[in-house]
Order: sequence, then structure tokens, then C-alpha cells
Amino acid sequence: MESIDFQRTLAAIAEEVQPLTGAGKVATYIPALARVDAAQFGIALCDVDGQEATAGSAEVAFSIQSISKVFTLALAMQQVGEKLWERIGREPSGDPFNSLVQLEHEQGVPRNPLINAGAIAVADRLVSAGADPKAKILSLISDLCGDPITFDEEVAASEAATGFRNIAVANFMKSFGKLDNAVETVLDVYFHQCAVSMNCIQLARAAAFLCRDGRHRVSNKPVLNERQTRRINALMLTCGTYDAAGEFAFRIGMPCKSGVGGGIIAVLPDRLSLCVWSPGLGASGNSVAGMRALELFVEKTGLSVF
Ligand code: DON
Repeated sequence: MESIDFQRTLAAIAEEVQPLTGAGKVATYIPALARVDAAQFGIALCDVDGQEATAGSAEVAFSIQSISKVFTLALAMQQVGEKLWERIGREPSGDPFNSLVQLEHEQGVPRNPLINAGAIAVADRLVSAGADPKAKILSLISDLCGDPITFDEEVAASEAATGFRNIAVANFMKSFGKLDNAVETVLDVYFHQCAVSMNCIQLARAAAFLCRDGRHRVSNKPVLNERQTRRINALMLTCGTYDAAGEFAFRIGMPCKSGVGGGIIAVLPDRLSLCVWSPGLGASGNSVAGMRALELFVEKTGLSVF
């Protein structure tokens, strides 16, 4: 493997995207996200040799939001196995992350596990799989990154208080017989997973198993097997950034998962995991400076899955 000075690369990227931080709009649907200063940027990287690099505000915690969908999917793959796919598809949606339209045509089976409807279906599977799924989610994420991770209860309560569309999605799926558990119980899991609070370093570490064929970055024990891990990466590439997934593949060429807190995780299998964060979002709900930072990373290093 050619050696790249990642620390220098990330520092250069942080400087270059500075004018873009503050571009875009922070998510405003709940006060805890609306009051975040848009003009912030952080980036962190872990490679398969254990090298780490950071730049900017890589230690500032933010709301991981939809990035959590990757971790709940991993947990459901561990707990449910192949049966998970009886209720969830694997196609990009081409619609916004909280869209209801396809659910009607497709009888309550969500297009993929990385849109809201799919993540709600995953949460339902986790509730069925046994006691305290919320604790299991925190335990998995904490184990993956090596720090104790918690929910921001203010964010979780606001998600529940304003989550009318998610409540509609869950009820709609329930009406098709595609949720086994009570809508409130399933949504309590979903609203909490959105409210996990982490920083860039923790997220880059937590995503590291995705570039190590499913193996834990410290213990080397399998979190998932190779096939399951490939499948998560494939879903992130095709569905991880909602209806901007094509644009991400075109401009960046790495499996990515974004959240409306402004975070994006990115994976280069067999090589490295990255997390970027900048709260200003573009029209598709993805971080403007974060997306540009990933594009610059690929330009500067020549690394890509393609
Ligand atoms: O469930 C929701 O709609 C919000 N908690 C946003 C989740 C999210 O991050 C979607 N996308 N980027």
C-alpha cells in the first residue's frame, strides 16, 4: 500500500472547505438541531493499520441521526440473519428519506433499510428479537468505538414530539401488517437511535469494521461476516445518501451514510473509514461542506472503490 500522509491531507481539506461551512441550512425541525452553529467542520479517519488522523472539530459531539441506520442494520443482521430481508428491500428509493409514496405501491415493504421506513422496519425486528433494543444499540456502538455512547434525551423527546411523518410511516406499515410490534414501541427505538450523540473520531472508529471485512478494529473478532459487511457497504453506496446517492457515487465513489445532524461516514473497504461533520445541509439533506470534503479527499489521495 502506498503511504499517504493522512494528517496533512485532512488538515488541507479542513482549510479548503472552511469557506463552505455555513453554506447550507442546519436542520430546523427540532430546537436542539436548529441552534447548532452551522460554521463548524470536523473530519476523522482510521485506516486498517490502526493509523488515525483528524482535523477541525473532530472531538465535538453532534446528533448522528440517520447514520444510526447503519448500526441498527448491523445489529439486526447479527440478531435476525437472512429473515430480515423478508420485510425490507434493497433498492434505492429516489425519493426523500421520509417519503410515504412508495410504501403505498409496495404494500408497506420499504425500499431499503437506510431510509426512514426501512429503519423503522429494522427497529421492529430489533424489538421482536428480544429485551431492551435501545441498550443493545448503545452497547454495539460503544463497543465499536471504544467510548461509552449515550442518547441525547432532549433530542429523542423532540423527535417524538415532532415526528408526525415517521408516526405516519409506521402506522402505514402497521396497516399492511408489516410491523409486528406496537407502533409506539418501535418508534421509541427509532427516535432514540436518531438521538445518539457522537463525534467524528468516535464515528470513524465505529465504522472501521466496515473496511475490515466485518472485524472489530481492536479485538479483530467478527462483528459481522464478510458477506454481511459487503452488503452494508453496497447499501450505503446505493442508498446511504437518499436521492443524492448517484451524485455521491459520481463525485466521491465511496459507500457513505449521512444524517441531518450534518455527519457523513464513508468507507473504503480494506483501507479506511472516515467521518466528516458540518451542520449546514444542502437540498438533499446532506452536509454541503462534508460532501465537498469527501470529494477533496478522493481528489487528493486518488482513493476510491472505482
Ligand atoms: O427521522 C427523521 O426524519 C429525522 N430524525 C432525520 C433522520 C435523518 O438524519 C435523515 N437524513 N438524513
